Amino acid sequence: MSENSAPTPPKKVHVKTWGCQMNVYDSERMTGLLKPLGYAPTEIAEEADLVILNTCHIREKAAEKLYSELGRLKKHGRNADAKIAVAGCVAQAEGAEIRARAPQVDLVFGPQSYHRLPEMIARAAREKGEVLETEFEAEEKFDALGQSREAEGYTAFVTVQEGCDKFCTFCVVPYTRGAEISRSTDDITAEVRSLAAQGVREVTMLGQNVNAWHGAAPAGSGADDWGLGQLCRHIARIDGIERIRFTTSHPRDMDDELIAAFGEEEKLMPYLHLPVQSGSDRILKAMNRGHTAEDYLRQIEAVRAARPDIAISGDMIVGFPGEDDKAFEETMALVREVNYASCFSFKYSRRPGTPGATMPKQIAEEIKSARLLELQALLEDQKQTFNAGLVGKTLPVLFEKKGRSPGQLSGRSPYLQGVFAEGPESLIGQIVPVLITGTHPNSLSGQLVREAA
Ligand code: 5AD
Ligand code: SF4
Repeated sequence: MSENSAPTPPKKVHVKTWGCQMNVYDSERMTGLLKPLGYAPTEIAEEADLVILNTCHIREKAAEKLYSELGRLKKHGRNADAKIAVAGCVAQAEGAEIRARAPQVDLVFGPQSYHRLPEMIARAAREKGEVLETEFEAEEKFDALGQSREAEGYTAFVTVQEGCDKFCTFCVVPYTRGAEISRSTDDITAEVRSLAAQGVREVTMLGQNVNAWHGAAPAGSGADDWGLGQLCRHIARIDGIERIRFTTSHPRDMDDELIAAFGEEEKLMPYLHLPVQSGSDRILKAMNRGHTAEDYLRQIEAVRAARPDIAISGDMIVGFPGEDDKAFEETMALVREVNYASCFSFKYSRRPGTPGATMPKQIAEEIKSARLLELQALLEDQKQTFNAGLVGKTLPVLFEKKGRSPGQLSGRSPYLQGVFAEGPESLIGQIVPVLITGTHPNSLSGQLVREAA
């Protein structure tokens, strides 16, 4: 794919990524787009000819991190002609402010524009000025990125959906990533086939609202749009693909077909990230979530009925405006009832331009911190209990790389935990039964199980 002769001397690009898996994927694709232009990736910002900072805007610290990174780049020096690009959601939301606050930045572009990176670089060089691109053209982006790319390893993310129409009142995503749009089944299938042919065994389908995916059914099938359950079953038939995951889902889009797929499609891994954000119906309403705590609990019940061993994961926000002690207690009660295998939790962060930012009854920082501490203690306990329950069980582990110590391999369980075991390197890229023997704060350890010959 990148066999074009590189211009000399070879150039280097350094990409730093914050935020979600979507950004990680976008960063990978940007590096891929730059290869034919002669840019090789480097881990060292100071030696790069192009530094790309791929940003996240979801909570305020992310923007601060961008400015401190820009300050660091300035102080430590860099290639005299190096260009600096700010990409991602901070670029989308604060393009003009970035130009004012950080004049050393040459390119600013949002998540829907990076497929035009080669053209923007040429323009920045030609015009010696800054380039600002923050339009929403997700469809054009999907087309421009095409269906083939170089795989890196045995697992891969594939964007199937972008954007969000839900407008939760705390969230910037509908403003930074734009409206929901779905890629077609044929496009996704072609990308997954190409990855599988390069050795990829596990694909994670990505989208801000991945289960809202409704893409065109395969050409010639005569069907209307498909839902994510059908897509999972379709992808499962691609030779070489052994494991399928998807993230992030919304309770409003969990349909019966998708729930059934967990019970019927063996390759769909028993792990579901389904954020609820709060356990209080009053707060869920103020958040504009469009579901109650009870709706969510019934869904978890249905998913568990379809796939009893499923690991449930989620996202929680504490300290949303108006959250009193009772509402927080309802969150704790919901968490106790769900019993999460893992769950992310955050203090509410006021995002300019979102309805939550100007709501009355904002919560004091100390109260948010105290609630977060209490919630995280419970979640940590649940996670450790879930992990401890796996000790003595044999799990299929996809080994992805060498571990930290010699002779050790590192892989993932079906429940997405990191698993370490001693074994020959020839097992990298394979799914192997492993007896789980111990738990660690963020991983499991185990021993290879010899199968009878
Ligand atoms: N404050 C705190 N957490 C937030 N999230 C999104 N916006 C905010 C905010 N303003 C969290 C939600 C979401 C996750 C990706 O980030 O829990 O699911
Ligand atoms: Fe944000 Fe809500 Fe959309 Fe998720 S569903 S991206 S939290 S607005």
